[in-house]
Amino acid sequence: MTESRLYIEGGRKICGEIGVHGAKNSVLPVLAGALLSGGVCRIHNCPELSDVYASCRILRSLGCRCGREGDVLEVDARSISDYEISEGLMREMRSSIVFLGAILGRLRRCRLSFPGGCELGPRPIDIHLSGLKKLGARISEDHGVLDCSFSGAVTGADITLPLPSVGATENIMLAAVIGSGETVIRNAAREPEISDLAEFLNACGASISGHGSSTVSIKGVGGLHGCEFSVMPDRIVAATYMGAAAITGGELMLRGVRPSDMYSTVSVYEQMGCSVYPYSDRIYISAKKPLCAVKTLRTTPYPGFPTDCQPIVMAVLTRAKGTSVIVENIFENRFRAAPELLRMGADIKAEGKVAVIEGVPKLSGAATVAADLRAGAALVVAGLAADGTTAVSNLNYIDRGYESIETALRSIGAKIRRA
Ligand code: EPZ
Repeated sequence: MTESRLYIEGGRKICGEIGVHGAKNSVLPVLAGALLSGGVCRIHNCPELSDVYASCRILRSLGCRCGREGDVLEVDARSISDYEISEGLMREMRSSIVFLGAILGRLRRCRLSFPGGCELGPRPIDIHLSGLKKLGARISEDHGVLDCSFSGAVTGADITLPLPSVGATENIMLAAVIGSGETVIRNAAREPEISDLAEFLNACGASISGHGSSTVSIKGVGGLHGCEFSVMPDRIVAATYMGAAAITGGELMLRGVRPSDMYSTVSVYEQMGCSVYPYSDRIYISAKKPLCAVKTLRTTPYPGFPTDCQPIVMAVLTRAKGTSVIVENIFENRFRAAPELLRMGADIKAEGKVAVIEGVPKLSGAATVAADLRAGAALVVAGLAADGTTAVSNLNYIDRGYESIETALRSIGAKIRRA
C-alpha cells in the first residue's frame, strides 16, 4: 500500500483536448524485442510508466543499456551478459514473462522464477510453455524456477493455441524469429499490440506476416539489427479518458489515437447515448444526454470488447439510467472495482463472471482503495462524477498504466491532486 493518494472533487465536466500516450501493452513486449534484436533500438512515443521502468531494470540486469531522451527510449542490447531474471524483478511485474521468448530466442537459454498470480487471479503460462516446447524448448520447472533451453536451432513448428492468449502469442513470436524454417501460430491473439510487436520485429529484420489475424507466420532469419520505431497509442488509456467525459456529461477531443483499434469500445459509448466522431488520428466524444444502460456487455478477445476497459465502463454504467449486465469472460477476478464503487453509492451485484449494475441518480465521494490497475482507473472515473471528495489509494497500481493521471485529467477540467 503506498501512502500517496489521489483526491478528486467530483461534479465538474470533463472538456477540452488531450493527447494519448504510447501503449503500455505494446511497449512492454517491444522492449523484449529490443533485447532480441541485439542492436540499438530507439523507441519513440514511449510512455513514462512504472512498468516501463521495471522492464528497463530487467534489461539492465541482463547487460543492456537503457536511456530516455524525451519520449524516446534507447535500448542498447549489443552485449548481454546473462540469461537469468532474478525473482525480485520477476515479482515486480508479472508481464515480464514476455522476456522469456526474447532471451530464449537470443541466447538459447533462459532462467526465471515462475511469475506469481496477480490481482486478476492466477495468471497461468501453460499455453506459453506448450508453444515453446513445440518450438523445441526443453523446460524444467522446480522450486518455482523455470529453466528453458533450445538444444539446436529453431527449425519452425505449426502451433495451435487453445485460446488466443496475448502473452503466449508474443512469447512464441519472439522465440521463433531467429532460426530457420517457418513457424505458424494458429488461433493467435489479434490484439493491435501483437501487430505492433510484429511491425517492430520486422523493422529489426524479422519476417513476420499475418499478424492481426488468427494465423501468424514467422519465417526464421539468421539474426536481427536495431531499429527506430514508434509505439502505437494506448487504446485503454483513450477509453479511460472517454469514460471520464461520458460520466461527467462533458465533451473531449482525444489526439494521437487510432480509432481503428477501438471500434468495440466506441460502440459501447454510443450505446450509452454518447456522440462519438472518429477521425484519422483523433476521436471526439460528447455526452450531452443522460447516459442509458447497456443491456448486456461481454468481454472477449480482440476485436471484441476488451477486458481492460470493463472496469472503467462499469464505473460509467453506475450512472447510466436502467440495468446493465456485464459478463467478464477473460479473467476470473476482474470486478475488483465493484466493492469500492458500492461504497460510493453505486448499485452493483457481482457474482462469478456476471455483474448487474442498476444506474443510480448520484454517487457520493468516499475513501477508496485501488485493487488493481484498471479497477483503480475506474475509481478515478467514478470520483469525477461523485458529489464531494473521493480519495483513491494504492496509486502504484494506477501509475503502472497511466502517465501522471492527475495531470492529464486536470488538463481537461478535473479538480484532482496527488498528496
Ligand atoms: C495481456 O495479458 C495484457 N497485458 C492484459 O492487460 C490484458 O488484459 C490481456 O492481455 C487480455 O487482453 C499485457 O499485455 C502486458 P492473455 P496476458 O494471455 O497476456 C488465460 C492491463 O490491464 N491464459 O491473453 O496475460 C489467462 O488466465 C493488463 O493492461 C491461460 O490460461 O493475457 C486469461 O484468463 C491486465 N494460459 C486469458 O487466458 C496461458 O498460458 C487471457 O490471458 C495464458 C493465458
